[in-house]
Formats: sequence, structure tokens, C-alpha cells
Amino acid sequence: MKKMIIAIDGPAGAGKSSIAKRIASEMGIEYIDTGAMYRAVTLKLIRLKCSLNDTDRIKEILDMTDIDFFSDHIYLDGENVSSMIRTSEVNRYVSEVSAIPIVRNKLVTFQRAIGKNKSIIMDGRDIGTNVFPDADYKFFLTASLEERTFRRWLEIKEKGFDDSLQDIQREIEKRDKADMERELNPLCKSEEAIEIDTTGKNMDKVVEEMLFYLKE
Ligand code: DC
Repeated sequence: MKKMIIAIDGPAGAGKSSIAKRIASEMGIEYIDTGAMYRAVTLKLIRLKCSLNDTDRIKEILDMTDIDFFSDHIYLDGENVSSMIRTSEVNRYVSEVSAIPIVRNKLVTFQRAIGKNKSIIMDGRDIGTNVFPDADYKFFLTASLEERTFRRWLEIKEKGFDDSLQDIQREIEKRDKADMERELNPLCKSEEAIEIDTTGKNMDKVVEEMLFYLKE
């Protein structure tokens, strides 16, 4: 199979990662979750109590930061942080951290390097517009705010937490606004991206729809 880059962008909770994982396994290619990278950097800055205005310190920390993926888990400096990056504290700061230019520079360089020699499906906010503007396929997934909130609530509930629907909706709205309004590589649909509204559709249906385009 020819080397292929598939980009998936969209707002929080649109189902990007679950769908990307399924497509990766159907196509036998690697899935890369770029949101997890921004979350891992956020976790490290929180742990080190680093001020988000202290660019020199952030640069120093980034120079000593190693992020890696291994069988569906993300490792921060060798530690598996897959569940720790999903806490509400990380949710609270991740949009602010991901708007910092040196953070984006480092992670975008890393993301491009991963896709240099192999086929991947990568999801995030700026994959089709900035990381891989020449991606072979670009998708933009959306869903209504209510549905995205409900899916997040279910996910969180399964993990044993009982955050209210209202709190989750507020968090999603706030993060989307920040991600769309930031100066550097904001969330937006690339002109060529195929937009799929996943509201009311189950995952099988969306995967099927996307595979239709990919197999064309
Ligand atoms: O996909 P996610 O919800 O785990 O992403 C967490 C945050 O990371 C998101 O609110 C914005 C940021 N992000 C980004 O700025 N660029 C990306 N390519 C992926 C995520």
C-alpha cells in the first residue's frame, strides 16, 4: 500500500479518536492522537507548577520532555500517563497550553516527523490545515453540542466519575471557543475536508461512511 496520511479534525467530543482508532485498525495503519500530546505537556507543566507566562521556563521544560506512543498508550518521559491526561484539571488548562507558540512548534515538528515515513491517521484541531496540509484525505467531524456533551458524560461515568451534564457542557463550550479563537493554527475546517456530522449516528455508520471515501 502506498504511504498515506489521513487527517481528522473537529471540536471536542465529536468522536474523532474512537473513529480514528477503528479506521486505523481496519486499514492496518497507525493512529496518532495529537490532543493527547498537548494534554501530556499540560500535565507536566501542572506538575512542575510552571507559570504559563514563563516562556523561558516552558522552553527549558519542553527541551527535557519526551513523548512517545506505545500500543494505544501515551508515555511522558517514560511514564504511562494515558489516564492522568484526562482529568478535569488537565481539561481546564489544555487550551491555554496549546495556544503557546513554542508548545505548538515542538509538537507540530514531532507530529510531522511521525508521518514522514509511514502511513498514519492523525486526529486533532489543525491536522488538515497546518500539520499535513497535503494529507491524502481530510475529514472534519462535528456533532451537536448536546450530543457531544452526552457522549463525554457517558465516557466519564464509565470511569466512575459523576460530573454533571451542565459542567461538562460548559467545559466543552469553553474549550471549543478557545481552540477556535486562538491566534496560532485555530480549529477550523480545511476547504478540502469532507465534513461529517455524527449527530444521531452510531460509530459503525460513521466508520462505514469514511471507509467509503478511503476505498474510493
Ligand atoms: O482532542 P483533545 O480534546 O484531547 O485535545 C485537547 C486539547 O488540545 C484541545 O482542546 C486543543 C488542543 N489541541 C490542539 O490545539 N491541536 C491539536 N492538533 C490537538 C489538540
